[in-house]
Amino acid sequence: MDSIKEYLEKNKERFLNELVDLLKIPSISADPAYKSDMLDAAEAVKTRLLQAGCDLAEVSPTPGHPVVYAEKIIDKSLPTVLVYGHYDVQPPDPLDLWDSPPFEPVIKETKIHPEGAIFARGACDDKGQMYMHVKALEYMTENNELPCNVKFMIEGEEEVGSEHLDWWIKENKEKLQNDVILISDTGMISKDTPSITTGLRGLSYVEVEVTGANRDLHSGLYGGAVANPLNILSQMIASLTDENNHITIPGFYDKVENLSDEERAKMAEAPFSLEEYKEKLDIKDVHGEKGYSTLERGSIRPTLDVNGMWGGYIGEGAKTVLPSKAYAKISMRLVPNQDWKEITELFKKHFESLAPDSVKVEVKPHHGGYPYVTPIDTIGYQAASAAYEETFGKTPIPQRSGGSIPIVSLFEKELESKIILMGFGLDTDAIHSPNEHFGVWNYLKGIETIPWFYKHFTEMSK
Ligand code: BES
Ligand code: MN
Ligand code: MN
Repeated sequence: MDSIKEYLEKNKERFLNELVDLLKIPSISADPAYKSDMLDAAEAVKTRLLQAGCDLAEVSPTPGHPVVYAEKIIDKSLPTVLVYGHYDVQPPDPLDLWDSPPFEPVIKETKIHPEGAIFARGACDDKGQMYMHVKALEYMTENNELPCNVKFMIEGEEEVGSEHLDWWIKENKEKLQNDVILISDTGMISKDTPSITTGLRGLSYVEVEVTGANRDLHSGLYGGAVANPLNILSQMIASLTDENNHITIPGFYDKVENLSDEERAKMAEAPFSLEEYKEKLDIKDVHGEKGYSTLERGSIRPTLDVNGMWGGYIGEGAKTVLPSKAYAKISMRLVPNQDWKEITELFKKHFESLAPDSVKVEVKPHHGGYPYVTPIDTIGYQAASAAYEETFGKTPIPQRSGGSIPIVSLFEKELESKIILMGFGLDTDAIHSPNEHFGVWNYLKGIETIPWFYKHFTEMSK
């Protein structure tokens, strides 16, 4: 397996160029205008998987964007690794905040990435991380190092809630049978502190609409006498958290799993500098739930955030208007054992009850997902840990993340396997933001580490 380093050195340029080509395809799942680019991206992934050694690859349609499925079965009696990733990306806007166009990848050095980083939408989330697995497979097949069977499932709707995946997984249950699911769609603590993600938060995403009068009104003639939905909506939203930044929705915390003092103390051992954190974000202070540390607020505690809020006049200059409607998009990150469907209902009931008779309120649920926590005493985790030890020379730290990958809990339920989250991104990679990037070092380190996982997992499974 030591030849992986040589192989990387020899093929580094090509590996980068191939990723750059993939990043040029604007596979934005949220916007119907990019439907054909989504297909192009799926076809490109399929082709690359065949080139990397898969003996079967297909673009499998869903009522939404297709799933790419591929496999290489060498011996049915050996274990099977199922790799999951996504080829869709978040919309790139606001475009004017990008230093270079989001779908014209460039490699530039940064302070954290002196070896260079690839700047493009999807560079880290998740094309770059997904493609590490394709290249790791290429290495293993080219060098006779593939020790077990491998299946790939690369979807195109992750960034919009994996709406059709539930159906697709149930349809393809037999085909997806595996011994472990491997995903690179998360991050690690830093380049010299490897970590394995052991938890993800769930999600409930809703949109609310508040309506006042049946038309926009002159704010001089009607202001003060008729409800302003923007004012009311602001008040309603403000009341969703109290002075301790606790969420006030009745029943919201009822099922929240509380960690033991011991577990919390263990968490606090992870390297983290609050000063550096604040400095990087250019904030004087952090903000969050009383009684919890910043690391805890961002992983083991649920949250409620307004993602966008609009209504009334937002054009140039001033217009005196009392708007008829106000809107907001609200997300709640959930932790074990909160059920997103229940939380969505609790939110709806509470939000509707907050509205005074002067307005009408409508709550529209978008999508959701269940939280996930994985134990570390499994073969999958141990194999991943051993893989990092090979390439980083250090034992990775298990760490729960605040992000969500709704498919993960679905996998566990439907396929009854453990999911291993080997992420190689950094918090500073600006995923979902302008100037998203992925370190060249991280990309290559991922390709180097993945084959070791296969080796250790196969050996430990014997
Ligand atoms: N890859 C991210 C999730 C992630 C990133 C988890 C970093 C942990 C660390 C994924 O693509 C994502 O963005 N998920 C969405 C949820 C989805 C339903 C839109 C999220 O977390 O907002
Ligand atoms: Mn992702
Ligand atoms: Mn994402």
